[in-house]
Amino acid sequence: MNQPVDARLLQRAETFSDYLQNTATRIDQSAEARAERAGARVGVSRPHESAHLHVAGEAAYIDDLPELAGTLHCALGLSPVAHGTLTGLSLDRVHAMPGVVDVITAADLPGANDCGAIVPDDPILCDGEVRYLGQPVFAVVAQTRDAARRAAALARDALTISPLPPVLTPQQAHALQQYVLPPMHLARATTEGGAQAAIARAPHRLRGTLSVGGQEQFYLEGQISYATPKEDGGMHVHCSTQHPSEMQHLVARALNVPSNHVQVECRRMGGGFGGKESQSALFACVAAVAARRLRRPVKLRLDRDDDFLVTGRRHCFWYEYEVGYDAAGKVLGAEITLVSRAGHSADLSGPVMTRAMCHFDNAYWLPDVSMHGFSGKTNTQSNTAFRGFGGPQGAIAIENILDSVARTLGKDPLDVRRANFYGKAHNNVTPYGQTVTDNIIHELSAQLEASSGYRSRRAEIAAFNAASPVLKRGIALTPVKFGISFNVKHLNQAGALVHVYTDGSVLVNHGGTEMGQGLNTKVAQVVAHELGVGFERVRVTATDTQKVANTSATAASTGADLNGKAAQDAARQIRERLAACAAQLHGGEPAAVRFANDLVQVNGRQMAFCALVDHAYLERVQLWSDGFYATPGLSWDKDKMQGRPFFYFAYGAAASEVVVDTLTGEWKLLRADILHDAGTSLNPAIDIGQIEGAFIQGMGWLTTEELVWHPTSGKLTTHAPSTYKIPTANDCPPVLHCELFKGQNAEDSIHRSKAVGEPPLLLPFSVFFAIRDAVSAAGGHHSDPPLSAPATSESILRAITAVQAAQEA
Ligand code: MTE
Ligand code: MOS
Repeated sequence: MNQPVDARLLQRAETFSDYLQNTATRIDQSAEARAERAGARVGVSRPHESAHLHVAGEAAYIDDLPELAGTLHCALGLSPVAHGTLTGLSLDRVHAMPGVVDVITAADLPGANDCGAIVPDDPILCDGEVRYLGQPVFAVVAQTRDAARRAAALARDALTISPLPPVLTPQQAHALQQYVLPPMHLARATTEGGAQAAIARAPHRLRGTLSVGGQEQFYLEGQISYATPKEDGGMHVHCSTQHPSEMQHLVARALNVPSNHVQVECRRMGGGFGGKESQSALFACVAAVAARRLRRPVKLRLDRDDDFLVTGRRHCFWYEYEVGYDAAGKVLGAEITLVSRAGHSADLSGPVMTRAMCHFDNAYWLPDVSMHGFSGKTNTQSNTAFRGFGGPQGAIAIENILDSVARTLGKDPLDVRRANFYGKAHNNVTPYGQTVTDNIIHELSAQLEASSGYRSRRAEIAAFNAASPVLKRGIALTPVKFGISFNVKHLNQAGALVHVYTDGSVLVNHGGTEMGQGLNTKVAQVVAHELGVGFERVRVTATDTQKVANTSATAASTGADLNGKAAQDAARQIRERLAACAAQLHGGEPAAVRFANDLVQVNGRQMAFCALVDHAYLERVQLWSDGFYATPGLSWDKDKMQGRPFFYFAYGAAASEVVVDTLTGEWKLLRADILHDAGTSLNPAIDIGQIEGAFIQGMGWLTTEELVWHPTSGKLTTHAPSTYKIPTANDCPPVLHCELFKGQNAEDSIHRSKAVGEPPLLLPFSVFFAIRDAVSAAGGHHSDPPLSAPATSESILRAITAVQAAQEA
């Protein structure tokens, strides 16, 4: 604290150069350079395709695009009441505000007043039933954004609402049996009588409840759409979205025109994290409706506070469970009820609950299990996708159970976890009936246990704690197994378009969207590799519904898997045509023609890639191609919740050590060691970035990020960074070791890589359970800490008080 500023800066700088060096050793630079010299364009670390633009502030986000003449700006009038009936709308004062051009209500929509992703239960503008505080009721269009916002702020006076009591928590909704979709059940039995009988027979039993909070996506670029009317009923929308095709369809429905009248484009998002998978729709629809009415371009960019108040986020979950286990901590039977806070409409709550239930097993074989999933309908924002898509909420429940089992038995939680791992040849069928055939969790966790020094550090921590009355340290090592594919079979498809121009430059377009995760970089690498050209030759372009149709959301971490394969298919077709052309020119077999390093080897001769392209054009060879991919082998019975929903699993493990101040509940992450499985990584530098980013983001979810709705008004009180605390650079641990597990995908994925976007979000479970370990130490390891997530300092302090009271009793 009292160090002079310069010394502090110096210390920071040293840490940073350590960090860079650290990264350099984690990536095997010399091996990558050798591979690249030999012509490999995948498996090598490349900067993000837009990195040079990001750092210079030159990457264009939608609000950076030059505005067209006549552009108007839109703002939304929000309900100040959480539940009720809209009985009156007096918009005269709103209309009379300076700069206001138009005010739009539900009655003004030319098409459907619905932007529901799956279930049509999501009004664009309030249709009479007020569902949550923050619900858009009307839209103001004005000359400037400021004028629009000032007028929209009059909503409180303009709306007459007769209020009803709001339902805010998942427990309340569950008690009222008020759900956004029918309850889901998933059970698997290997012994007579299933879960309940297995629990009854087990030597030990444990019952409990747990609650885990939600999480705001906090993308840096907020929700935004910019709509421009085109001739003959057409509409062009720049939309910050993970799902341009769905935006196209929903805008078309709102305008009451066919889909071919609507074009949606997205060059990049300033982060999506699931928050722009479905929830970009409302803004796209409102902007398009306004643009159609006024025949002028209309932009709708949300203010951060409004973004919090209008859109949904990660579902919080509440669980009630019972397990039976043996003396080694092996789970014999488990029954769990999962209740999520879905919010006022279905949105993606169904798929989120499905993924939660398909990840309750995490890395563990549960012989007899029974799960019940309820998506509670509440008077809050409609919750949606967030990195992990329910997977984290499913897996943390079993992790919490195993942690409790270990504490009850007085065993090291790692030993209990390991005792429950899926087997390789047997004990390897998931609750949903998929056999785990690619299990590497045993080797991966053993490697991390050794490299992190888990056992010796556990002993050191015990010694430290014995001598330290106020500060207590804790450690945990937790595994991850995450299923890759959309749970819905038909979504697992993708298309791409590759153009080779006569000068030998290459343009790629595909159905995926770029949100910072490096998808475009990976797809460009795949195309460069396939054509045997340098990266510089390949340029990626904006995702555009007029180039690739009927795309799926860039979600479920499948972006590179699906679009990489589709782009490879397109590039291969062009290469094959070029090979045939080269063989015709110089003889030999087309199949023997080799493309690498901008050169083509044909029948003992060598020619420049550009020269071959030029020749092929003159020979009237098609130099562009589309490509398509559909993931093989998937099946899913939605009603029975059985099948093979996942193409493969991605694995990982992390060991975290924390120190907790038992007087204040404050804590610090001292060190984290991560070993993560990205298969044969397409781009190790980008993958390590994804892993570290997800780790810190997930740590925020489980610790400092707390959402608080006012218990009577139903207002989300934590709607800005002043009250909602996301992690910053200062929360990163001083020691962070992140490595890629050496291996390859057992399935034929794109270059045997594995999806990496979401699975690492589960790695910071280790931070939460390290905090739990430290809290347990504060009570002399006499009782199981009553700690839920997020483990804010306040809740850590409460848990410490409880374990200390239990110790004294
Ligand atoms: N990384 C960055 N930088 N920004 C993001 O918005 N979204 C995550 C993850 N990584 C995200 C990110 C989520 S929720 C998903 S599903 C994947 O990226 C999607 O991209 P992919 O399928 O190409 O991995
Ligand atoms: Mo990611 S939550 O699947 O967009």
